[in-house]
Amino acid sequence: MLIKNLLKVSAFIITFLATTNTFADQATAMKIGCAGCHQMAVKTVGPAIKDIAKKHNGANIDDLVKLVKSGKNADQLTWGTIPMPPSPAPEADVKKVISWMLQQ
Ligand code: HEC
Repeated sequence: MLIKNLLKVSAFIITFLATTNTFADQATAMKIGCAGCHQMAVKTVGPAIKDIAKKHNGANIDDLVKLVKSGKNADQLTWGTIPMPPSPAPEADVKKVISWMLQQ
């Protein structure tokens, strides 16, 4: 009985932690400005996060971090006609957000 309850409590804690982590990553996306151009499901200035996840499914995250840190100029565009400015955010934050984006 005690073990069963303990299992229930740990399952709850794990779910809670997993959810808070997702919120934290989403909050980072807002904080470092990605959310200004990337919405979850619709293309705005930049492609939708779900479309990015589809296109880069299984991609090397470090390559994408480098790309976002250096930005995309007009001659490198693959989604449309709007360039992405280089991100001034710390690399660790960018990495956290991209890992989260690719799971959407
Ligand atoms: C000023 C608007 C803007 C901001 C801010 C912005 N992006 Fe983008 N992002 C874009 C645009 C526009 C594209 C599409 C560029 C293209 O056509 O290749 C893009 C593309 C991307 C891609 C896909 C790259 C590819 O080549 O397929 C990723 C990943 C990405 N952004 C992540 C981020 C992250 C993470 C942040 C926050 C640090 C961020 N973006 C902030 C506008 C923005």
